[in-house]
Amino acid sequence: MSDKETFIFDFDSTFIQVEALDILCEVIYKNSSVGIQVLNEIQRLTNLGMEGKLSLKESLTKRIALLQANRDHLGELIEELRHKVSESVIRNRVFFKQNAENIYIISNGFKEIIIPIVQEYGIKPSHVLANTFRFDHDGKIIGFDEKDELCENKGKVLKIKSLNLEGEVIMIGDGYTDYETLQGGAATKFYAFTENVSRAVVIEKADRLAPSLDEILFDLSYKASVSYPKNRISVLLLENIHADALSIFKHEGYSVEIVNESLSEDELCNKIKDVSILGIHSKTQISPRVLDAALKLHTIGIFSIGKNQVNLEECSKRGIAVFNAPYSNTRSVVELALGEMIMLIRNTFEKSTQLHNGIWDSSSEKSVEIRGKKLGIIGYGSIGSQLSVIAEALGMMVYFYDISDKLALGNAKKCSSLEELLALSDIVTLHVDERDSNNHLIDTDAFKQMKEGVVLLNLSRGHIINLEALVKNLKSGKVKGAAIDVFPNEPIGEKENFSSELQRLPNVILTPHIGGNTEEAQLDIAHFVAKKVIQYINTGSTFGSVNLPEIQLPEFQSAHRIMHIHENVKGILAHINTILSEFDYNIIGQYLKTNENMGYVITDIDNLHNTDLEKQLKEIPKTIRYRILY
Ligand code: NAI
Repeated sequence: MSDKETFIFDFDSTFIQVEALDILCEVIYKNSSVGIQVLNEIQRLTNLGMEGKLSLKESLTKRIALLQANRDHLGELIEELRHKVSESVIRNRVFFKQNAENIYIISNGFKEIIIPIVQEYGIKPSHVLANTFRFDHDGKIIGFDEKDELCENKGKVLKIKSLNLEGEVIMIGDGYTDYETLQGGAATKFYAFTENVSRAVVIEKADRLAPSLDEILFDLSYKASVSYPKNRISVLLLENIHADALSIFKHEGYSVEIVNESLSEDELCNKIKDVSILGIHSKTQISPRVLDAALKLHTIGIFSIGKNQVNLEECSKRGIAVFNAPYSNTRSVVELALGEMIMLIRNTFEKSTQLHNGIWDSSSEKSVEIRGKKLGIIGYGSIGSQLSVIAEALGMMVYFYDISDKLALGNAKKCSSLEELLALSDIVTLHVDERDSNNHLIDTDAFKQMKEGVVLLNLSRGHIINLEALVKNLKSGKVKGAAIDVFPNEPIGEKENFSSELQRLPNVILTPHIGGNTEEAQLDIAHFVAKKVIQYINTGSTFGSVNLPEIQLPEFQSAHRIMHIHENVKGILAHINTILSEFDYNIIGQYLKTNENMGYVITDIDNLHNTDLEKQLKEIPKTIRYRILY
């Protein structure tokens, strides 16, 4: 930082996220029914002052009189405000500490509140320009120093001028009085700070908008000491992704655009040029052409389980990390499977259909409990194993078969072959993955091995069962009932009709691929995927990525992180370290992970003094991508 630059921050709604007097009101009136009325009035008076429609002295006098505050309230208030410092201020704590000599806080508020908060960021009490309260003998606040120029109109201008600062004076604030410092010649630059509030009257006047402090420091070329401004990271969310994902990205400070449908290849190619983070559901196809058009894309969040819609190999070749949510809907599938087992084994649907037609059949014939029955689970992965535990808790005897060696949970028993499992199970349920070799895993032969009167469930993938064989066995009575949630040819949307040979067969439950589709699952997916993507952007962690080598990283503090993605060839790590040692860098930590095709090296260094470093890293042969976090 040049000695001639001075930063002056407004306090309320800028350094902190809120107006301190609003929070003081909440502290005082937290248990009172009139609290909300007082707060509304305080906010109205604050805004009138901020927008220049009421004199500051008048606005303050009225607010102090309304509040009826005392010294004890201030202690509580300060505790509250410590948790309400603006996010980008917290992120740039190092900037404040390093440049404390040149940073001031100016406020129409009060030193008793401001100093304890900003001192934690290295700001000196003498650099806090604010008013002071007047107290009576009992510690009640009865007014403020009316002689202080800060309670006069244009007080901030006078106060800054009295400092006789030289060089650039950069004012950062959200209110009209902050803008006045530029207008009145006290500041040379004014940034309208909109991270917490946006006031039209201020934005209109400002020549510079700052959605965060990152943006200001970036604009002023403090690139080597601050993080890349998050508002410059653009996120495109397609296909009606859950609103919580949108909020999470917005809260992070990114610029987010949402489109409720999926886009065609052409449409996406047009839109994706400046996008850094793409969020999709199951319908948007990510082809090499789309990836070629995506000049800034770092990561794709798939807000569902399946990942076939994304060309993972091409993403890897470009160093784009892809994340999905493989476990968010496990429980939802398990619950539906359990419910369906009970419905089928009790003949509930048949009885319900009969009753709809006026037939009262209350006999117990063919209606049995699941307790004590043998449940055969094929595929003991996330879903199969969770089903095992809950089914056992309901009194079932659980057997499973998996092609991988899986540890049996509870008292479940492992079968050594599919034949063994089919021969003993009263209920067979499929939870295998979609690999090609599972096509028609359950075919005519498999049905022959099953018990007479077996119940069959498929909530995995449509091609696993030969439906022709299933229909035959349902009609013959060999299979007593079936629940099918997935089909070989599923309609793409609601407009397309569904037709299947299973329709209109008794004791067959058909559901439109909803096993994992619950509000809870969608919510969990929104949080899980958004957080993975943000973690990748913020720290470089690829833990949970479906295509890049997975590295789970510790938080990095007081360091710069270099992320280098490359083709998996020998010698890259040595090459990176040679460059760092030539430039005399001190390596604080280093992590390397490779898969068959790619390598990912993360290196934390204590400072970043050579601008040539980026160029050298980029020129290492077989580099796919590199990124530096400041
Ligand atoms: P997972 O990958 O955790 O488990 C699959 C298991 O099946 C693995 O342990 C694997 O070794 C085993 N397996 C694969 N082929 C096999 C075979 N021929 N015989 C025996 N075991 C075999 O998968 P997860 O998360 O448990 O999902 C299971 C299935 O459920 C997947 O097909 C998934 O696509 C589907 N699914 C369906 C949903 C729905 O809405 N209906 C929602 C979520 C998942």
